[in-house]
Amino acid sequence: MKAIILAGGSGTRLYPVTGAINKHFLPIYNKPMIYYPLSLVMLLSIKDILFIVNPEDLKNFQKLFKDGSHLGVNIKYKMQEEPRGLAEGLILAEDFIGNDNICYMLGDNIFFGHDLVKIMEEAKNDIEQNGGAYVFGYSIKDPERFGVVEFDEKGNVLSLEEKPKKTKSHYAIVGMYFYDNEAIKIAKNVKPSERGELEITSVNEEYLKKGKLKVKLLGRGFAWFDAGTHDSFLEAGEFVATVENKTGLMIGCIEEIAYKNGWIDKKQLLKLAQPLKKTEYGKYLIELAENSLVLGASNAI
Ligand code: G1P
Repeated sequence: MKAIILAGGSGTRLYPVTGAINKHFLPIYNKPMIYYPLSLVMLLSIKDILFIVNPEDLKNFQKLFKDGSHLGVNIKYKMQEEPRGLAEGLILAEDFIGNDNICYMLGDNIFFGHDLVKIMEEAKNDIEQNGGAYVFGYSIKDPERFGVVEFDEKGNVLSLEEKPKKTKSHYAIVGMYFYDNEAIKIAKNVKPSERGELEITSVNEEYLKKGKLKVKLLGRGFAWFDAGTHDSFLEAGEFVATVENKTGLMIGCIEEIAYKNGWIDKKQLLKLAQPLKKTEYGKYLIELAENSLVLGASNAI
């Protein structure tokens, strides 16, 4: 399986903050927003990662992640000339994906929860064994802002709708999707929606029609933020700060995950920590290199 992380878009819902900077570089507490989806992909042990970026942001992404080798991963970049919708990300990734299955993450989605990685691994394994699509629903107060899934009383999926005015449930589909290779072909046949975008919901609907869509609900023990608005951006940062300062464990720390995965050694971890050493982040990495207790923590997201 290969991973695509969508990190383009114009960030209009965060204006004027994003007038001169791409939202994915903005800090969710102590690290760039984009670290969070990247960390999840790394926790899934996926090493081949494609960032889809705006042309004007390519240089900054390269500055941040280079080719990924310092973290033990292979990072490639693909430019999206204009934001034409999430399904276009799949089309742009065609060459990169080749014949593989796909983990598709939205760059502004932040997740936290016990056994999150286990649940993601189940999705990954399911796609690798059975194909189809595997997505996640999450109960939310304002589902009209998202893709919404409707169930019958037995829990079967009845419909999917993108930002409906009248919602049929309070479950949003979150920005983490697992697909077999068919998704690219399906995305190519998607017609633009009323808002003129190639919707990821249309891709999911196609899988639903074929009887090949699985929707797993993330329960009360999970936190999910689409950090693309002023309020959710702030909430996500406060959430991360609260959990990290309480537990002393970081969420979305890509260097920690690379180290725990055995992709980088202690020497490399200390090298990565060096320029950060004036920060709590850098001190955490140094502590991690020198103290295996932190390394033993099970849920390094
Ligand atoms: C997108 C998807 C939507 C999904 C959401 C998750 O919305 O279109 O189905 O629920 O991401 O963050 P957008 O952020 O493009 O408005």
